[in-house]
This record gives sequence, structure tokens and C-alpha cells, in this order.
Amino acid sequence: MAKKIRLGVIGGGGDSLIGVLHRVASHINDNYQIVGGVFNPDFELNVEFAKEIDVPTNRIYSDFDTLIEEELKLPKEERMQVCSILTPNFLHFPMAKKLLENGFNVICEKPMTTTLEEAKILQETHKKSGAIFAVTHTYTGYPMVRQMREMIKEGALGKIHKVDARYYQGWINTIIHDKEKRSSVWRLDPKKAGISSCMGDIGVHAFNLIEYTTGLRVNSLLSDFNYLYEDNQMDVDGTVLLHMGEHIKGVIRGSQVATGEENGLAIRIYGEKAAFVWEQERPNFLFKLSDTEPTQIYKPGHGYNSKLSLDGTKLPPGHPEGIFDSMANIYLGVARAIRGEDYNDGEFPTMLDGVRGLNFIEATVESNKKGNVWVNMD
Ligand SMILES: NC(=O)c1ccc[n+]([C@@H]2O[C@H](COP(=O)([O-])OP(=O)(O)OC[C@H]3O[C@@H](n4cnc5c(N)ncnc54)[C@H](O)[C@@H]3O)[C@@H](O)[C@H]2O)c1
Repeated sequence: MAKKIRLGVIGGGGDSLIGVLHRVASHINDNYQIVGGVFNPDFELNVEFAKEIDVPTNRIYSDFDTLIEEELKLPKEERMQVCSILTPNFLHFPMAKKLLENGFNVICEKPMTTTLEEAKILQETHKKSGAIFAVTHTYTGYPMVRQMREMIKEGALGKIHKVDARYYQGWINTIIHDKEKRSSVWRLDPKKAGISSCMGDIGVHAFNLIEYTTGLRVNSLLSDFNYLYEDNQMDVDGTVLLHMGEHIKGVIRGSQVATGEENGLAIRIYGEKAAFVWEQERPNFLFKLSDTEPTQIYKPGHGYNSKLSLDGTKLPPGHPEGIFDSMANIYLGVARAIRGEDYNDGEFPTMLDGVRGLNFIEATVESNKKGNVWVNMD
């Protein structure tokens, strides 16, 4: 029986949104043991939280630099093998870089960095390190998203001609309309979040989902943002037109002020033979549309699904699995990579996805700033 992988967690404290998703996901397939970390910049809160979730406090550190320093003093067979970075965006780059330089594998939240320049530096650091690096575009772990990817690869849709991805949320409504509140959250502060809110936080997931499922690359784009208020520096809504090759067009519609919307990520991919429709809020239903046949519904866990999709399902059909399992599938792929086992390149998003993500975010901001013009991606 293989030993559990020693995981360190940075950020993701009791006060965070995403911490619980990573903690639960890392445990779902019995591959990881959280051995320590820095959950919170406040040491007292940090230790208190570790006790609450039963992580031994001897490897709870006062800050990130101390974590590296102290972990390196431990023999390799005790040291953290991989660290998850779950902090606000501006800390991803310095932390990921230092972890890679010191021989740690990294699981990093999106957006991977706050600039494309940082992303490219990180890519170079990663190349030299030989470490495993994953970016948690959570939605790629859903069995039906994986099924789309595999079926599209096999030609189920024929030549794709149109892609429409939407990511609508409404939560920023509770903040954006109040002058004081909108200047106090990190997601609307360019120093902490990077140059974009809507595209940086959620548009980038939609972008990744398009490239992950279709295997196509966005070549150029044109964006139109809404900032809502003069003093707000970050987009909270935007539409992005995409060119993805000869006669292949697409659109990303993103919003954080889509009143009443929760986590409305959805994708529609139209090809010459058929189309796929998938929605994150009912992730276990993949619709295949046709002009000549009745609509088909694919569901997880059935033998007709691809190996990659079935690998992401743990229970027989009809036992709904969700976002925790989707993230768990990413952790499972990373575990295989760390152990040197075979894995499918669809099992977790990589450094390249992280770099593409930053390329997308910067291009959308540039396009909007220049008056909604077409901008090429790298
Ligand atoms: N993959 C997804 O679907 C998804 C969803 C939500 C958030 N995220 C990403 O996760 C990251 C965190 O988002 P969140 O919503 O959980 O933020 P949050 O503000 O809710 O939590 C951030 C956590 O980081 C901790 N932290 C801050 N500075 C730190 C430091 N110097 N050292 C250690 N810990 C520190 C805070 O104490 C807090 O626990 C962001 O990059 C965000 O984009 C990803």
C-alpha cells in the first residue's frame, strides 16, 4: 500500500472560501495527508485552525518563508512533497516560484499569477525544477467535462464552428453598489487580485473550459467590459468575442453582477455533426444535440463513457457527485504524477494552462482599454 503524499497548505484558513474544497478534495481518494502549512497570516488563528481540523501544530509555521526554511531542515522522506497555494492572487507567484526553486511540487489556485510576465518566469522556473505543477481549474475534474473532451477528440461533433461559454455570478452586487465596501475587498483591489476581476476570477475558468474541452486555441479576442462605477478599477462584467481558427468563432460572457445568478458556468459547443451543452449547476447531465436525431443525455459512471470520465467517478450511476469530487479528481491526477505513475494529460490543468490563462486575462484588458479592438494571443 503506497504511503500518503505529505501535503502542505498555504492559505485556505477557516475564514476562506476555497480552503474547505481543497482539504476535502485532497482526502477523498485517500492519497494525501495534510502535515502542516500556513493557513492564515495571523499565527494564533493559524494554530487555532490547525487544532480545529486536527493537523499537528508542530509544522504550522508563522509565515511562508519560515515554512520553506523549516521544511528544508527535515529529511526528504518527512518533508512536504507538495504544497497547495490557496491565498489571494498576488501571493501565488512569489510562493509558487520559491516552492519550485526549493524542490517542492505545487498545486496552485487560479489565476496562476497576476501578470503574464510573472507567468512566463514561473514557466521557466518550472522547466528547470522538474517538479509537478497543477493549476486548479476545478471544473475540468467533472466526469461530464472530461467526457466532452474525449468525445470531441474522437470527432463526435465533427468540425467545431461555434463555442459559447458563460460564467454568470451575482455576488458582487452586495459589494459593488456601496462605495466603502467596493474599496475594501481584495478581489476588487488590483494590487491583490491583478488587473481584472470578472475575467481574472471567472472568465479565466470559462476560457480554460473552452480550450480544455475543444482542444482548440483562442488566437485573438475582442472584449467589452463594464466597471459600473467611475472609481471602480476592476471589470465586474464583460463579453469577449473569440477567434479560434479558420471559421471557428466563440464568445465568453462573464458577469459578477448578474443579479440572482449563483455559479452559472455553462458551455455550448456547436459542430457540423452535433453539439454539446453542459452546465456547472447540474454537472451530471451532458446534452448532445443534433439537427436530425433526438437529444441524448450522457450521465456519469455508465460504461459508455470514456476511460478518463469513468476514472473520475467513484460510485455507481445515480449517486450524484459534485464539486468536491471534481477537485478530488484533479488531486488524484497530481498524486499519480508525483508517484511517477501513468496518467492522462486531461487529469489536471498544468503550467501551460496557467500561462494561457494570464495571456487571456491581459489580452481582454488590453482590448477593452484600447476601445474594444482585436488583440492577438501569444
Ligand atoms: N478554483 C476555483 O474554482 C476557485 C474558487 C474560489 C477561489 N479560488 C481562488 O482561490 C484563491 C483564494 O480565494 P478565496 O476565495 O478562498 O479567498 P479568501 O479571501 O476567502 O481566503 C484567502 C485565505 O488566504 C489566507 N492568507 C492571506 N494571506 C496569507 C498569507 N500571507 N499566508 C498564508 N495565508 C494567507 C487568508 O487568511 C484566507 O484564509 C484565489 O486565488 C481565488 O482566485 C478558486
